[in-house]
Amino acid sequence: MDRDRPSLVVGVLREQAPAERRVALTPEVVGRVQALGLEVLVERGAGERAMYSDGDYTATGALLVAREELLSRADVLVSVRAPDRPTMLALRPRQALIGMLRPDLDLELAATLADTKATTLSFEGLPRTLSRAQSMDALTSQANVAGYKAALVAADAYGGFFPMLMTAAGTTRPASVLVLGAGVAGLQAIATAKRLGARVTGYDVRAEARGDVLSLGAAFLDLGGVSVASEGGYARPLTAEESAAQQQALVDAISGFDVIITTAQVPGRRPPVLVPREALDRLGTGSVVVDIAASPLGGNVDGSAPDVTIVTDRGVTVIGAGNLPSQVPRAASTAYARNVTALLGLLVRDGALSVDLQDEVLAGLVVTHDGVVNRPETLGGSR
Ligand SMILES: NC(=O)c1ccc[n+]([C@@H]2O[C@H](COP(=O)([O-])OP(=O)(O)OC[C@H]3O[C@@H](n4cnc5c(N)ncnc54)[C@H](O)[C@@H]3O)[C@@H](O)[C@H]2O)c1
Repeated sequence: MDRDRPSLVVGVLREQAPAERRVALTPEVVGRVQALGLEVLVERGAGERAMYSDGDYTATGALLVAREELLSRADVLVSVRAPDRPTMLALRPRQALIGMLRPDLDLELAATLADTKATTLSFEGLPRTLSRAQSMDALTSQANVAGYKAALVAADAYGGFFPMLMTAAGTTRPASVLVLGAGVAGLQAIATAKRLGARVTGYDVRAEARGDVLSLGAAFLDLGGVSVASEGGYARPLTAEESAAQQQALVDAISGFDVIITTAQVPGRRPPVLVPREALDRLGTGSVVVDIAASPLGGNVDGSAPDVTIVTDRGVTVIGAGNLPSQVPRAASTAYARNVTALLGLLVRDGALSVDLQDEVLAGLVVTHDGVVNRPETLGGSR
């Protein structure tokens, strides 16, 4: 054996979904990954849609290969989204796969992966509040990009200016923007809309989000009674009565806004409906609603769906956001690649993969290992 050869190989998969433009490792981090003792193989064209050429990778010392060679040589495969089933079924025992695999959305996925005896790790399970996990927090890094892009999408669809402009033809009033849900994406949407000059208001059901909203120079929408204490940073699902009260309060509160961006999520559940039909009907003609939470399970806005834009009878544009991070592929890939690199730094010990399930970060991330589904209770599927 050539003793100078790195003992472990990481393989960067080209994303298969046509609308997915991100790449799991960017040329920027290849040197850092190599410094961990890993050889970096990149599937040809993997970075193309994120605006990284094959030449950008070879310049860092990474090796370009076809998919087949990548799959057969890599000890660790890295991807953004779950690869297709044939790829996952072809994983070898002990081969590792890292990505945002969403095992919670596909009940059979974890069992299928366990059968391969591969080690699979998905960022959705990261214990995000641990400070040493923060460099690996892909949910946060991607939500940040989504919030930024949502404000741009809204500004683009809105027929007016976001800022107040004083021109020879007179003064225009700034757009009034409401952001519902002030987690990572919501706060970035607030900050971005503020930078564009809009008059911004934020709202979240978690009482402690108020301070975050105010610290960005936005106003906080006070809905009176509906407020919950957070559970580990997340909102708990509201009861049916609380949800009805919240919807009614929002119907009354949101009618004066030009733009609404909704970002509310409850982990493992379908997103709460915050903008029912009645509220949409009370918005002015030309108003724009962007629903970041739009998912196949439903979204925050009545009737919204991913990648679907509708204009209501009353002239309100409702944009069900699709994959927003993919629409800012360079920034999203840069951040994600740093998250992946940090995780590789945790996994690689003395030139080998070390999957210590006593480590609470890895215990959260690992979906399957050694033929066993880890924490099956977390994979109940979104309700
Ligand atoms: N390192 C860390 O400590 C760390 C890391 C990530 C996130 N967090 C915190 O966790 C919190 C949530 O993070 P997220 O952005 O991933 O959350 P998320 O994407 O799950 O939800 C987005 C927001 O929607 C809100 N929401 C849920 N139901 C709602 C409802 N019915 N009405 C109004 N708002 C509702 C949530 O409170 C949350 O703020 C934030 O406070 C965030 O700062 C902390």
